[in-house]
Amino acid sequence: MRFLTGIQPSGALHLGNYFGAMKPAIELQQQGEAFYFIADYHSMTTLTDAARRRQYTLDVALDFLACGLDPQRCIFWRQSAVPRVTELAWLLSTVTPMGLLERATSYKDKKDKLASGDIEKVNHGLFAYPVLMAADILLFDSNVVPVGKDQKQHLEMTRDIAAKFNQIYGEVFVLPEPRIREEVAVVPGTDGQKMSKSYGNTLELFGEEKALKKKVMSIVSDSRPPAEPKPDAEQNTAIQLLKLVAPPEVYQLWVDKLRAGGTGYGDVKKVLFEHYWNFLAPARTRRAELAANLDYVEQVLQDGAQRAQAVADGVLERARQACGL
Ligand code: ADP
Ligand code: TRP
Repeated sequence: MRFLTGIQPSGALHLGNYFGAMKPAIELQQQGEAFYFIADYHSMTTLTDAARRRQYTLDVALDFLACGLDPQRCIFWRQSAVPRVTELAWLLSTVTPMGLLERATSYKDKKDKLASGDIEKVNHGLFAYPVLMAADILLFDSNVVPVGKDQKQHLEMTRDIAAKFNQIYGEVFVLPEPRIREEVAVVPGTDGQKMSKSYGNTLELFGEEKALKKKVMSIVSDSRPPAEPKPDAEQNTAIQLLKLVAPPEVYQLWVDKLRAGGTGYGDVKKVLFEHYWNFLAPARTRRAELAANLDYVEQVLQDGAQRAQAVADGVLERARQACGL
């Protein structure tokens, strides 16, 4: 069983990314062949700052390795280090109906943002994004693609494109199955909405202690006084986050305290910060070691690229042959 997934390098990773995407990916390393890459080509559709792309790519690599990605158990590379994927994207684009791409919700959303002045341009790369994503997946004969709900349509498009290619040129591609992580609860941000970089409500995995503490203390809560019992304690954002980073008995203790009355949200946030900080302590140490040894990180990515390329060569050759190139 081969798992493959890509992560865009788009800034510091947060607790939502960790519980929603990184932790499941790290766990899958034990269950099959894990192929994970940093989607730097994809990031070009929205980010045009080269220095930031370089930095974000490195940040994602450090964050992932620090959190438990094991180069012995997975293949981890920069998408652009296996440029054959762009050749496959071309082959696929010739069997991809325009209408399929025009119906992509991620493209339509971005176009709407353009119309409202939120972003500057809609480029061809943004339109062709799903084709490159299909190439990412098909180039490695991937069986299962673990992604968040937002990527469901892209996976359906990948299957449509693969089936179309196979129909025209013969059985070349493995049809991948999505594995949508519906079961992972949405991690709330400091304002109670879904934690997301685009809402500015994130708690980063790695950051400066004081700044993170300030963010935790700013988590929204209702205005009931400490003395008042809170039968709905589980709905509180700080409590929901505590559940993720603290042992179950600590979580339960603070739920009970809020229910009983006499405990303020400020105390819950202090406890939350402590557990959040300690939860990430081993990864923080590991990240500092990695950051002091960037040659090692570069080596991991280059080894990964080489191993990925060996697989890609075989599949691409199969596709080229099938279409008479
Ligand atoms: P952001 O919303 O911060 O831009 P991305 O869309 O880059 O995050 O997220 C990458 C992956 O991380 C998503 O596909 C999703 O699986 C996961 N993820 C992001 N935010 C959350 C969240 N708040 N709760 C659960 N999973 C999340
Ligand atoms: N589009 C994905 C996202 O934004 C990232 C991605 C690119 C990807 N290529 C992929 C995910 C291939 C899975 C498989 O989250």
